[in-house]
Amino acid sequence: MTVIVTGGAGFIGSNFIFYILKKHPDYRIICLDKLTYAGNLSTLKYVMDLPNFRFVKADICDREAVDKLFGEEKPDMVVNFAAESHVDRSIEDPEVFLRTNVIGTSVLMDACRKYGIIRYHQVSTDEVYGDLLLDRPEMFFTETTPIHTSSPYSASKASADLLVLAYHRTYGLPVTISRCSNNYGPYHFPEKLIPLMIANALNDKPLPVYGKGENVRDWLYVEDHCKAIDLIIHKGTVGEVYNIGGHNEMRNIDIVKLICRELNKPESLITYVTDRKGHDMRYAIDPTKIHNELGWLPETKFADGIKKTIDWYLNNRDWWEEIINGEYRNYYEKMYANR
Ligand code: NAD
Ligand code: TYD
Repeated sequence: MTVIVTGGAGFIGSNFIFYILKKHPDYRIICLDKLTYAGNLSTLKYVMDLPNFRFVKADICDREAVDKLFGEEKPDMVVNFAAESHVDRSIEDPEVFLRTNVIGTSVLMDACRKYGIIRYHQVSTDEVYGDLLLDRPEMFFTETTPIHTSSPYSASKASADLLVLAYHRTYGLPVTISRCSNNYGPYHFPEKLIPLMIANALNDKPLPVYGKGENVRDWLYVEDHCKAIDLIIHKGTVGEVYNIGGHNEMRNIDIVKLICRELNKPESLITYVTDRKGHDMRYAIDPTKIHNELGWLPETKFADGIKKTIDWYLNNRDWWEEIINGEYRNYYEKMYANR
């Protein structure tokens, strides 16, 4: 089986590559990544020289490059993680989100149509459903919850989902979509809540909490997400959407306080800052469908996952310090100058 994994130099895509290479050592994995600010090639250094792994630096919007790669590799499956993924950046500048998240998805699917494929999987997000009220804890997102987006990021992801379903209906492309809740774990870019708070706390810098910190997210350990995608691409039903989440709702402020406790840092580092525009209040996934159909259940409890994550950031300071000081952007040139 040959699988193209796009966006594999980012947070979830890299964890997925590690998972799939271990679970299916006979598979050939090709990572296609543009290496935007969010992509870090050094993350893939442990797999880079494996004979069944190939890294290709390219933009998913570049038809010629995508076509060339598909022609060379004739992939059986494509798993699309490549995206602009940060809500705050989408509020500052929506355009690149439309380009990569929507146009890029259509370019990939056009190549799938041209070369034939047994599965195109779109990695989507629970943010396409909008948000839930804090005083209605009995409400959850199911796969039939209407799309109701808040940010340019979620609107671009929802647009891509609609396009994926349209390619299934119109062209018969064998697609699946997964909509996951917030992930946390190793290799999470330190501008997102959990890694940012860990890095700032370790540097005794302020911990910027938006608004009152009462917004709720449903946190899932990244490896559990990877396991769910592996199940969907092998056993999921074509044309279907699967929600992924672990019933682990936490308020932002409680996460930040927990990180302070774990790192033995004072809560006085917490600084309340102006709220995000259009800030979604609560996300919560009902994962009944993927549990009933594919037997998936989250395996890592939050209390264990957050400890593992904090330990990872403590033991891999180089990885995130090179991101903060910008050094990681030179890694590609350093590694590939003489190849
Ligand atoms: P990330 O920002 O860490 O990584 C994105 C990767 O995509 C980077 O390596 C980047 O270089 C690459 N990329 C961006 N634009 C590209 C382009 N035009 N061509 C090729 N590569 C490009 O993101 P992440 O957190 O790993 O998220 C991966 C996917 O999962 C995204 O589609 C995101 O919407 C979805 N998702 C994320 C979360 C989460 O909590 N992080 C939750 C649910 C769904
Ligand atoms: P984020 O990691 O950006 O994920 P998303 O917005 O996609 O859920 O943010 C998670 C939550 O943390 C969200 O409610 C915004 C909040 N937040 C802060 O309070 N401070 C921060 O510095 C960041 C990055 C996020």
